[in-house]
Amino acid sequence: MHRNRLEAVYITDSSPQGGPMKKDRAAIILAAGKSTRMKSATSKVLHHVGGRSMLAWVKAQADAAGVSKVVCVVGEANQDVRDAAKAMGMEIAVQEPQLGTGHAVLAAKHILADFDGTVTVLYADTPLIRTETTHRVFDALDGADVAVLGFEAADPGAYGRLITRGDELTAIVEAREATPKQLAIQLCNSGVISASRADMFSALSRVTNDNAKGEYYLTDIIEILRSDGKKTVAVIGDEAEVLGVNSREDLAMAEQAFQSAKRAEIMDGGVTLRNPDSVIFAFDTIAEQDAIIGANVVIEEGVRIRKNAEIKPFTHLAGCEIGEGASIGPFARIRPSTNVGENAKIGNFVETKNLDLGKGSKIGHLSYVGDAELGINVNIGAGTITCNYDGYNKHKTIVGDHAFIGTHSSLVAPVTIGEGAFLGSGGVITKDVPDDALAIARADQVNKDGWAKRYHAAHQKRKDK
Ligand code: UD1
Ligand code: MG
Repeated sequence: MHRNRLEAVYITDSSPQGGPMKKDRAAIILAAGKSTRMKSATSKVLHHVGGRSMLAWVKAQADAAGVSKVVCVVGEANQDVRDAAKAMGMEIAVQEPQLGTGHAVLAAKHILADFDGTVTVLYADTPLIRTETTHRVFDALDGADVAVLGFEAADPGAYGRLITRGDELTAIVEAREATPKQLAIQLCNSGVISASRADMFSALSRVTNDNAKGEYYLTDIIEILRSDGKKTVAVIGDEAEVLGVNSREDLAMAEQAFQSAKRAEIMDGGVTLRNPDSVIFAFDTIAEQDAIIGANVVIEEGVRIRKNAEIKPFTHLAGCEIGEGASIGPFARIRPSTNVGENAKIGNFVETKNLDLGKGSKIGHLSYVGDAELGINVNIGAGTITCNYDGYNKHKTIVGDHAFIGTHSSLVAPVTIGEGAFLGSGGVITKDVPDDALAIARADQVNKDGWAKRYHAAHQKRKDK
């Protein structure tokens, strides 16, 4: 308890330079929209970009900015969003009916009643805002009362326009309300707005729906707070990061934007991508220096590729760690909980799952190895299968260091192959094999002299008739 209090003081105390006290931060994520244009039974914000939902992206933006509380505003109909948001540790505010962005933020008011700090509004359908940008919006409040994230739009279309004077933001005018002169402005509102909780809700209580859409506009708080004598500023971000997703086409654009940024980040870290545009990454992919990734590799959530490892073409990786100097593929499928040791090799048409593969071990061709622990320098022959599932439970296969598993072995789990053991080809191994033993588990071969010749002769005779 004592320790927690000390930490809390440390975090909220003034900066070493004696700057202003850092205020406690909260985020309100708007997700009450109907998302009809996605034509999906799943709520829009639960669709994925870079392997995680847009809602999870936005939650991560808030977390990275150091918020202590996140409220997600959902519609009555978005039960799936409510469940997902709860599972991510957010508080839920229901907005029903949906009467505009200002009305949506007001739905979170009771949850933040006792909160004394700054609040930032984020949209759940705007997944790609960078951490630095979210920080800049919060930090702008050190010298102002309200900060809005703006961007220069190539085609400003229906976006709200930012009216500025010097470095001050004097108003946000929605496109429908804008004069032709205002419509020519390219500086637009991303939707991200930061202010103290007190200012935000004091202004929102005075917003009316007397406008073209008959909605309560969050953007109206700018002029209201200025009339209170507050300072309002704009922080400028890139158009690419404020891309909002409304349709499947937008979703694909967001995915492309994420992938290009991630490819650049990975290459910048000293990794070779032989054909960058054909490699698909996930939000959390880590690849270390001098790793090489070939063409058409797909990487799902939870993958770490260590130094000097090579991922050859057409390989699929998910939830795995590839050790230093290891080589994977081409055409390999590495499933979750696979740990590939240093300098180990996995070749073509190999599938692994829940596997610990020791240093220098090899699974060269056409194998399935799951629920297994393989020691160091193990050699798995082509066509080896771990028979890990009996229809009800999964069982473990353990293979000791330096063991040699002959081609086409079936390892019927649970089973343990001792260190240095040698399995003859084609065995169905149902019993443990001691260290250094040879196991042969196949029928003895029978040779019948002249049999084939007689066989062909008999068939040929019938055919000739
Ligand atoms: C809003 C801004 C506009 C800005 C644009 C950026 C206002 C009045 N306008 O316009 O200045 O350029 O976003 O994309 O704020 N939402 C709710 N409940 C509601 C209405 C909306 O939760 O009652 C949510 C939506 O799910 C969405 C976000 O708020 O995530 C924005 O709503 P939307 O209707 O798209 O606002 P725009 O008209 O695009
Ligand atoms: Mg919109």
